[in-house]
Amino acid sequence: MKISWCFLVISAIYAATIEGQLSTQGFISIDCGAPSGTTYLDSTGIMYVSDDSYIDTGKNYKIDQKYTSLSNQASTLRSFPNETRNCYTLWNVTKGAKYLVRATFLYGNYDGKQRAQISTPLQFNLYIDLNLWRTVNITDASSEYAHEVVTVAANDFIWVCLVDIKAGTPFISALELRPLRENIYPHAFPNQSNAILFRLNYGPTKSVTIRYPDDLYDRIWPWYQYDTTMLKSIKTTANFTRYSADNFEAPYSVLQTALTPVSSSNLTTVSYDAPSNYPNFPGYYTVLHMTELLELSGNQSRRFNIFLNDIIWDSSLMLPYGKAYYRCDPVAQHYSSITFTLVKMSNSSLPPILNGMEVYWPMTMKVNQLTSAADVKGIMAIKADYNIVRNWNGDPCSPTIFSWHGVGCNSDEPPQITSLNLSYSGLSGKISFSFANLQSITYLDLSHNNLSGDIPDFLGEMSKLQVLNLSGNHLNGHVPDTLIKKSKYGLLQLLIDSCTACEDKSNKSNLVIIAITVVVVAAVAVVVG
Ligand SMILES: *[C@@H]1O[C@H](CO)[C@@H](O)[C@H](O)[C@H]1NC(C)=O
Ligand SMILES: *[C@@H]1O[C@H](CO)[C@@H](O)[C@H](O)[C@H]1NC(C)=O
Ligand SMILES: *[C@@H]1O[C@H](CO)[C@@H](O)[C@H](O)[C@H]1NC(C)=O
Ligand SMILES: *[C@@H]1O[C@H](CO)[C@@H](O)[C@H](O)[C@H]1NC(C)=O
Ligand SMILES: *[C@@H]1O[C@H](CO)[C@@H](O)[C@H](O)[C@H]1NC(C)=O
Ligand SMILES: *[C@@H]1O[C@H](CO)[C@@H](O)[C@H](O)[C@H]1NC(C)=O
Ligand SMILES: *[C@@H]1O[C@H](CO)[C@@H](O)[C@H](O)[C@H]1NC(C)=O
Ligand SMILES: *[C@@H]1O[C@H](CO)[C@@H](O)[C@H](O)[C@H]1NC(C)=O
Ligand SMILES: *[C@@H]1O[C@H](CO)[C@@H](O)[C@H](O)[C@H]1NC(C)=O
Ligand SMILES: *[C@@H]1O[C@H](CO)[C@@H](O)[C@H](O)[C@H]1NC(C)=O
Ligand SMILES: *[C@@H]1O[C@H](CO)[C@@H](O)[C@H](O)[C@H]1NC(C)=O
Repeated sequence: MKISWCFLVISAIYAATIEGQLSTQGFISIDCGAPSGTTYLDSTGIMYVSDDSYIDTGKNYKIDQKYTSLSNQASTLRSFPNETRNCYTLWNVTKGAKYLVRATFLYGNYDGKQRAQISTPLQFNLYIDLNLWRTVNITDASSEYAHEVVTVAANDFIWVCLVDIKAGTPFISALELRPLRENIYPHAFPNQSNAILFRLNYGPTKSVTIRYPDDLYDRIWPWYQYDTTMLKSIKTTANFTRYSADNFEAPYSVLQTALTPVSSSNLTTVSYDAPSNYPNFPGYYTVLHMTELLELSGNQSRRFNIFLNDIIWDSSLMLPYGKAYYRCDPVAQHYSSITFTLVKMSNSSLPPILNGMEVYWPMTMKVNQLTSAADVKGIMAIKADYNIVRNWNGDPCSPTIFSWHGVGCNSDEPPQITSLNLSYSGLSGKISFSFANLQSITYLDLSHNNLSGDIPDFLGEMSKLQVLNLSGNHLNGHVPDTLIKKSKYGLLQLLIDSCTACEDKSNKSNLVIIAITVVVVAAVAVVVG
């Protein structure tokens, strides 16, 4: 059954389907570095927005006027000189659903430092959640580098992080997310994403880039620039249909052109090498999109074999006419270099054709180390409530080198937030209900801020809380009974410094502080004793 992912069966059983509905619903399209509040409809028909609601670190720049960007999105960018890790949060995705995420980079000498030369490449790491997606390696200041990954959302938000590796300041020009159908890219699972090495459209005679609306999923299909002495273009304007089991859904406009050898019986694809900088190279999956463009007459035939390097990979292929068709690798191939050769069979009257090609590698996803989604939402709400500006971005707990300052976590799978130290953090206003969302918290230090209003009841209902330090604030009103009881029974160490309603209004508040603290400590001693 698994094998059938890659071997689309030509059979009447599979009803041909019509193309899906054209819709940008669920697209997230961010023009990084655009002025706050920007929204515009791009020529593709996609609405782009500025990045201010997806990230709160970094600084906006424009590329140098000497450079021109092909897309509207790449003329501005956001640059991250400060923290080692900076993350965009792509909100409102569906947990368990499959997405295409694309990050685009155009340096354009925005900082006047003339980086991005072959001799001084600009490099930084790109992550999806906690997982290294790739090292961005910019050696041409005028090129747009677009990297794509197919991923299954581990939560109802996805993090895309840029990590400084001391080879230049990380930056980003555009960030896009597109929902995919569940059966598309069958090698992508919750525990395995597919990072795209390249995708090519074989057949156009001049530079053209196919994306939305031709590609419903807005994948980018650059053209393959070919040697016209070796290969020639063939095309059709015929209408195409799809088998319902199609797991790649290459756009018809890509399939309507193809390359075929001028005189040879062989068609050789581009070669691609295993990267030297990936220590445990996971291999590549290749998809060859091949569809018959000619209505063959009785004595015409097109039959060919496919070799991977010099090993037979697929044999005796005959392509259906006018129907989207492909072959893919059921398993990742670990060769240090890969070339496919399509070879005409001796009894075939026509040489092989190739319409398009995709290559991707499997990326193992650490999903169990992501902080519990409820805690993430809780702490994000606290961050928003008090406008906290720290290194608070990306996953709060993982990896530990980037864990949020003042946030402590356990090592459960998923990790949970167990302590929060927001003392001396300039918090003002009321104690937010968002703290109640941190279900596993045992230690909460909100001391020495400017918190005011009542001490809310919910604090007494946080079942795991053992230490609560509210001293050095301007809180008033009564201390909830639940808190007083808990501290009396030694379940909670409670520090508060003004307690007008506690008792005895005639006492000076300073005395009350000591009294409460002493009572608490004494109670502990009594219970233990
Ligand atoms: C980086 O940190 C410095 C010093 O804290 C601050 O002045 C500056 O605004 C920060 N820059 C960005 C882009 O966050
Ligand atoms: C996306 O999620 C955020 C945070 O949960 C919410 O404030 C916003 O309204 C959502 N936007 C849409 C378009 O659903
Ligand atoms: C970065 O790109 C340059 C030019 O394409 C290449 O020579 C170099 O090997 C790349 N470096 C890495 C680490 O991939
Ligand atoms: C990843 O998920 C797939 C499909 O759910 C499963 O078959 C496979 O065993 C998993 N691999 C690992 C390493 O957990
Ligand atoms: C393709 O389909 C469209 C719409 O159904 C139709 O107008 C057009 O004539 C068809 N083209 C060909 C070449 O059959
Ligand atoms: C195919 O058949 C047609 C007539 O039906 C003939 O004119 C043509 O030469 C034949 N081509 C080949 C390659 O045999
Ligand atoms: C065609 O490719 C096959 C398989 O790689 C190879 O054995 C053969 O020599 C090639 N023929 C030509 C003419 O290049
Ligand atoms: C061509 O050869 C293949 C395998 O050798 C065979 O299955 C097929 O029927 C032949 N086709 C023709 C038209 O003779
Ligand atoms: C809590 O944060 C304050 C201010 O950043 C710091 O002085 C204190 O040492 C922290 N407490 C603990 C237990 O780490
Ligand atoms: C403390 O809070 C009060 C009211 O909530 C406000 O008026 C005052 O400006 C705040 N002080 C500081 C230093 O933030
Ligand atoms: C708040 O109280 C706790 C518990 O006694 C203590 O560990 C913490 O250091 C105190 N916070 C500050 C900023 O003194």
